[in-house]
Amino acid sequence: MLYRSTKMKSYYMLLLLSILLLPELSFAEGLLKLPPLPSPEDYGDVLIDRVSREKHVTPVVFSHWVHRVKYTCRVCHYELEFSMKSNDTPIICDNGQMKGKYCTTCHNGKDSFAPKGEDGENCSKCHNADSSPNRQKFHELLDKLPKSKFGNEINWAKALEEGLIKPKDSLSAGARELVNIETLVLKAEMAGIPSAVFPHKTHEQWLDCSSCHPELFNIKKKTTGSLRMSNMLKGESCAVCHLRIAFPLDDCKKCHPDMRR
Ligand code: HEC
Ligand code: HEC
Ligand code: HEC
Ligand code: HEC
Ligand code: HEC
Ligand code: HEC
Repeated sequence: MLYRSTKMKSYYMLLLLSILLLPELSFAEGLLKLPPLPSPEDYGDVLIDRVSREKHVTPVVFSHWVHRVKYTCRVCHYELEFSMKSNDTPIICDNGQMKGKYCTTCHNGKDSFAPKGEDGENCSKCHNADSSPNRQKFHELLDKLPKSKFGNEINWAKALEEGLIKPKDSLSAGARELVNIETLVLKAEMAGIPSAVFPHKTHEQWLDCSSCHPELFNIKKKTTGSLRMSNMLKGESCAVCHLRIAFPLDDCKKCHPDMRR
């Protein structure tokens, strides 16, 4: 009898557990229709074709991993005013002149190749949508850095934290003083779903406050109505970055540490 009742008890415990885990599982496997992921070396690539095809030049594929090893997001998306929406920045190349703005701030023959150098024209290095890039470099990088499950499969947060990469945080001198706001725990508005975490520190290391405040998020915990997975699937909220550039939504556990996936 005693044997039976403990067996029943564990049966009910199991039933209870699966009911509790059901929302998490069904979300992960069904309701959350995540877009297919590109291969790790292509993750974070952005096709820039605002005017290229129209002007009969090959469009540009901009690779984020190549650049984020050397610069934080802040350099391009705050200092140089590149938009966080593809084909939104009014880049005018003027046959590679670009007048020291946008790409040619660095593609100047000193920090990196210029459109026209001693070695001739480098147009096709940027106007590269018709060629397959050399991925040897990616695999050499991947081998050196801590791993992650999705996206580039590189744990970028850890790589930076451990000093394995040292991206420049500004093109002008002077280092920023970090504010160091503590990690927020955002309790999910659905029974059985473990809370999400938001580490301000990690984000501050890569970004400027103005990338998120006040447009995307209120400066008060749990007041932003748009913080929902349904919006993230549309590329809004956290997924402005966590869909194509920073680790993707597939990685539930990074944001919901108590989830199983
Ligand atoms: C450092 C990267 C880079 C290099 C090098 C480069 N371009 Fe561009 N180019 C761009 C980007 C980015 C655009 C914007 C593409 C778009 O919006 O469709 C662009 C756009 C263009 C356009 C479209 C019209 C315009 O002026 O914006 C032409 C034409 C062009 N480039 C020609 C050239 C030629 C010729 C060279 C070589 C002498 C060259 N580019 C070198 C990045 C580059
Ligand atoms: C060297 C410059 C540079 C760095 C560094 C950089 N980006 Fe970008 N990013 C760009 C450019 C250029 C575009 C395309 C903009 C356009 O087409 O108007 C872009 C586009 C994006 C987009 C839009 C993607 C899409 O498909 O719509 C997001 C989101 C983004 N970047 C986030 C980030 C994050 C997060 C980081 C840091 C981890 C970062 N970027 C680092 C230059 C950069
Ligand atoms: C903040 C500086 C900076 C800006 C802005 C920048 N780049 Fe770069 N880019 C670099 C540096 C530095 C390298 C060399 C990276 C290396 O060798 O690891 C590089 C490398 C590249 C490469 C070679 C990639 C490879 O596989 O080796 C391409 C193509 C490129 N950039 C395109 C662009 C385009 C297009 C833009 C503008 C939309 C742009 N970059 C804006 C600094 C920049
Ligand atoms: C990547 C996006 C992002 C960046 C960058 C960012 N924040 Fe936040 N911040 C958030 C989110 C998300 C919340 C919570 C909003 C909510 O729950 O409605 C938040 C909340 C806050 C809060 C309220 C905390 C509380 O306990 O109520 C403060 C203060 C804040 N941020 C300041 C800053 C400052 C200062 C910076 C720059 C140093 C910054 N944030 C950079 C996303 C960001
Ligand atoms: C403007 C871009 C941006 C937005 C918006 C953003 N993040 Fe991030 N987040 C990043 C970048 C960049 C990293 C560094 C790791 C990477 O690139 O994969 C990061 C890292 C993280 C990490 C740390 C992972 C680790 O390995 O330690 C967590 C957790 C996270 N983000 C959660 C969130 C949540 C939750 C939101 C929305 C409330 C959010 N992020 C919004 C850009 C962004
Ligand atoms: C980039 C961070 C991030 C990732 C990755 C992420 N979530 Fe979320 N999730 C959040 C945030 C933030 C909330 C809202 C917390 C709140 O209500 O303030 C949330 C809420 C939820 C909710 C509650 C319903 C809702 O939309 O508010 C469910 C269910 C959920 N997440 C499931 C998942 C599953 C399953 C995965 C993996 C496939 C996942 N999440 C990946 C950040 C993330």
